[in-house]
Amino acid sequence: MAKLNINSTVRMNSGYEIPLLGYGVYQTPMDVAEEVTAHAVKCGYRHADSAAAYRNEAPTAAGLLKAQVPRSELFFTSKVPPKAINYDAAKAVVDESLRLTGLDYIDLYLLHAPYGGRENRLGAWKALVEAVEAGKVRSIGVSNYGVHHLDELEEWIKQTEEKEGKGKGGVLSVNQVELHPWLARDHIAEWCKKRAVILENFVILPKSVTPARIEENSDIYDFELSEGDMQVLKTEVYEPCAWDPTTSRD
Ligand SMILES: NC(=O)c1ccc[n+]([C@@H]2O[C@H](COP(=O)([O-])OP(=O)(O)OC[C@H]3O[C@@H](n4cnc5c(N)ncnc54)[C@H](OP(=O)(O)O)[C@@H]3O)[C@@H](O)[C@H]2O)c1
Repeated sequence: MAKLNINSTVRMNSGYEIPLLGYGVYQTPMDVAEEVTAHAVKCGYRHADSAAAYRNEAPTAAGLLKAQVPRSELFFTSKVPPKAINYDAAKAVVDESLRLTGLDYIDLYLLHAPYGGRENRLGAWKALVEAVEAGKVRSIGVSNYGVHHLDELEEWIKQTEEKEGKGKGGVLSVNQVELHPWLARDHIAEWCKKRAVILENFVILPKSVTPARIEENSDIYDFELSEGDMQVLKTEVYEPCAWDPTTSRD
């Protein structure tokens, strides 16, 4: 495999590229988000991971755009909040993200969590599919989806395509979940790998509001892990640091 660097990208099922390094802004206060995101862009990040629930979409997008890097090289993600997982609310949230950020399109829009029950989950997904058709969003995906949620969505996409034609059910590009040696989530990883769905945090999203750490977190391309190192990192434990909607059953 070619060596990775800060400009490395990976192609999503949508056909668009996603930068492998992203800048996370969960818990980044609104009043500093523009400045720290602009600093991240100066350090070479081209991708910011925001969400409507983070309440910092506007300053994060402003920070991305500040350094006059061409828009085509930048990548902005947002997410439909857990409380808005239904068709009408998801549609409104996408429009609100466009209004707040002033962007012509959003690179990636995710459903933040598999909440709201089957009908609402699939309704929210349909709203994202329509946002792609309308040119408001380029790629779509989900976040915190367990295998049973992914199976449900895959089945709906298949049935919708059978009824309405190819592509009408939308293209699943990403599942974003907490992932690290204490939470390897092998079943989710395998499901995604089989279908070439990008599993973010293999696309990594370090968050920091501290300039020196923002720099340090981008300077990660000077070492490689051996197969032996990888074996040591297999802990076989299941220890989420954050919430865990992947197991929800509603
Ligand atoms: N979809 C979801 O449900 C979900 C859930 C969680 C996270 N995410 C995404 O993933 C991103 C990362 O997750 P996260 O924000 O929870 O946590 P994180 O990036 O794992 O950790 C952030 C914390 O680590 C500190 N830190 C960062 N770099 C450091 C360094 N080099 N040395 C020491 N400490 C350092 C930061 O402090 P300072 O900021 O004070 O420097 C902050 O307290 C989020 O911002 C978000 O985009 C998504």
